[in-house]
Amino acid sequence: MDVTASTGPPAASGADTYASGVFQDENAGRAELQALLDSGEAKAKAGSVALTHLDGHRHLLVGLGARDAWSAEGARVAAANAAKRAIDLGCRSLCWVAPPDSDERAIGALVEGTILACYSFRRYKTGDEEPRPALESLTVCSASDQNATVERAAVVADAVNAARTLQDTPANDMTPTDVAARASEIAAARPHLTATIERRKEIAARGMGAFAAVAQGSAQEPALITLHYKGPKAKGPVLGLVGKAVTFDTGGISIKPSQGMEEMKYDMSAGAAVIEAIGAIAALELPVEIVGVIGATENMPSGTAIKPGDIVRTMKGKTVEINNTDAEGRLVLCDCIAHAINEGAERVVDLATLTGAVLVALGRTYAGLISNDDAFAAAVSAAGESTGEIVWRLPLHAEYTKLVEGTFGDLNNAPEGRLAGTIVGGAFLAPFAGDVPWVHLDIAGTAWSLGRAYAEKGGSGWGVRLLVELASTLG
Ligand code: BES
Ligand code: MN
Ligand code: ZN
Repeated sequence: MDVTASTGPPAASGADTYASGVFQDENAGRAELQALLDSGEAKAKAGSVALTHLDGHRHLLVGLGARDAWSAEGARVAAANAAKRAIDLGCRSLCWVAPPDSDERAIGALVEGTILACYSFRRYKTGDEEPRPALESLTVCSASDQNATVERAAVVADAVNAARTLQDTPANDMTPTDVAARASEIAAARPHLTATIERRKEIAARGMGAFAAVAQGSAQEPALITLHYKGPKAKGPVLGLVGKAVTFDTGGISIKPSQGMEEMKYDMSAGAAVIEAIGAIAALELPVEIVGVIGATENMPSGTAIKPGDIVRTMKGKTVEINNTDAEGRLVLCDCIAHAINEGAERVVDLATLTGAVLVALGRTYAGLISNDDAFAAAVSAAGESTGEIVWRLPLHAEYTKLVEGTFGDLNNAPEGRLAGTIVGGAFLAPFAGDVPWVHLDIAGTAWSLGRAYAEKGGSGWGVRLLVELASTLG
């Protein structure tokens, strides 16, 4: 989609459809729009979209709710609702008249909401594999020059949609090799970004015994993907971004029930978010240095698979007793976190669809956050607050650390009882970050079927916007 900003009148955009918003108890602007509101056909409440025709174009009047409650997230949702109606009506070009006094965040969110609402996954619909774009162009009209804001938002939203495509692609076509190929493709297009791909042999040779243990049950070659980005005039601490990319999680020998197992293709969501976020950061040439580490593998039951009770040695030297082969994410991540630190990361954010328990605790509204550092946790939390990817911090008490102590090995990947499942996952990972400020985000709830107007079903691309925002605040 072609996205531009304009300080001119909407008529200059040439768009076939205009959209404008109306706040509760405020005027709609033109008399015809106000009349629509007065008649009750249009409503100022959030979620409402009314259609009328004016001077040869369509006009969508979009309810924005109360001005006091207005936020960038409100703009994202309003834009998504408008875009969906526009697509329904067969519009090709849309011009958003931004509410007066909109700041950069709100303008950017209008762009994001529109682009995200235009996402569809049609690859396997015969005859419709490459459908024409839902909308060809978007112009955002506002009083001030917002070209940079609009361009940036378009880059980020395209990256979110790219992550969603990786998530939605089934595991037979999104193997660790395919994930690695996407990382290489992005790096090849960006001068300040490199991608190194290592396979089974190299993972074992590095001593990543926990990662290798998960991969040993699969015929698919795993991939350790290391991205390095050093922007022009990079400043601030080297940021490590680590993502779990289990391209299919059967549970392994501790096999999952078959009901709903098809959704476990989304167990690579975090890896997809890290790859696409770094792609966007490189496209925007943000002045930061980043080490990205993605651990990609399948988790399969087979004659070569790990068995409950097996003990493996991690790259950091600690041994892990694998009491449940379905707690594989922490096995992959512990070695990937250590690798990111070895590669120079001075701050680490890891993302993972780690536990079903986070869905029980927080549903699909918040991602779970666990951290060893208050200031860094606050920075990540603030980044999420500003992008609408909200996080909720859970405590990391010494009593949880006791739970992950092993009986025969140093650590145990799945203590009995399943109490505090999400925190236990974080407590397992904490020693691998050591003293490095670290944040763990459990996105098992938010990565899929988020239920927001701009990401209803399937992959949500959760984390891409947050990571780009974090990188821009650190630099
Ligand atoms: N990938 C799953 C977590 C998950 C569950 C993601 C539901 C998305 C939706 C993870 O590997 C897993 O199986 N976790 C186990 C951990 C347990 C065995 C300690 C879980 O949550 O049941
Ligand atoms: Mn699992
Ligand atoms: Zn998993």
